[in-house]
Amino acid sequence: MLTEDIKKEIDSHIHEPQHRAAACTEALRIVQRHRGWIDDESIREVAAYLGMSSHELDSVATFFNLIHRRPVGRHVIRICASVSCWVMGYDALRDGLLKHLGVGMGQTTPDGRFTVVPNQCLGCCDHAPALMIDRDLHRDVNLAALKELLEPYR
Ligand code: FES
Repeated sequence: MLTEDIKKEIDSHIHEPQHRAAACTEALRIVQRHRGWIDDESIREVAAYLGMSSHELDSVATFFNLIHRRPVGRHVIRICASVSCWVMGYDALRDGLLKHLGVGMGQTTPDGRFTVVPNQCLGCCDHAPALMIDRDLHRDVNLAALKELLEPYR
């Protein structure tokens, strides 16, 4: 059940009462911030709150790559797989990152610390290769400095 606090946060993004569904992406992000990911029950609750069908909201949730429909680790690493990063060493960075963490793409480390997913262009092609950890953008990522880069994310 959506808490009063979550409802209040969602309400702050509803600018026209007759168009509650317009706040759906923000609502999903809010619920995800509180619950870690968006399960089927969350889809039903948010959809009902915004006057949408669960199917409609699930379509948004599965389209929007910042919404997790499966459990993720405490920190999500989004590694850019678009062309500039690919040219500047994406393959080696991806392989080194996955090897360092001992997971495959899309998987979560056994300690629940990190989930690694591919991402399209992060908008800093002139500083490729790039990745994001949670909301932090890291540019000119150096494989040799990876351990140091991950250290603050406990
Ligand atoms: S291609 Fe990676 S940031 Fe644009």
